[in-house]
Amino acid sequence: AATLSIRSEISYVMIKPDGVQRGLVGEIIGRFERKGFKLVALKLFQCPKDIAEEHYKDLSSKPFFGALVEYILSGPVVCMVWEGAGVVKSARKLIGATNPLEAEPGTIRGDLAVQVGRNVVHGSDSAENGERETALWFGKDALVSWEPALAPWLI
Ligand code: TYD
Repeated sequence: AATLSIRSEISYVMIKPDGVQRGLVGEIIGRFERKGFKLVALKLFQCPKDIAEEHYKDLSSKPFFGALVEYILSGPVVCMVWEGAGVVKSARKLIGATNPLEAEPGTIRGDLAVQVGRNVVHGSDSAENGERETALWFGKDALVSWEPALAPWLI
């Protein structure tokens, strides 16, 4: 827990199975890279049911919960952690509204998706959940601590 407190803010971002199947991995990672956040963890992962259920536990009473968990299990996901000041709120803006038909053009969901149940990407909704979700998907000590080799123009 001590190492968690000295880090700047982190967001857990995940490309959902439809994003992987549709070949959107590079496109989506590129948007976070170009924005200027720092990638500190990354893996392709076939999720077990207990992790999907834990990740979405706050939605367990919703009618769509079963379908949501099945969707997340339906193929590999790309799990990432992005770090930087304000990354949680900024990632949500880059991702766009939950319903892709409501998401603004220029956002990932606004540009690349049409269905709420196939909205290609997840981003933590609070700094606290960024920490919680990172621990759930990567374990406590999985983040890579690195400094950019070039001058820090952005971060
Ligand atoms: P939520 O946490 O409300 O949205 P977000 O992913 O933007 O933080 O919901 C989690 C996921 O649940 C959402 O990305 C897609 C799915 N979902 C549905 O399938 N149907 C719905 O009506 C809602 C609200 C969400």
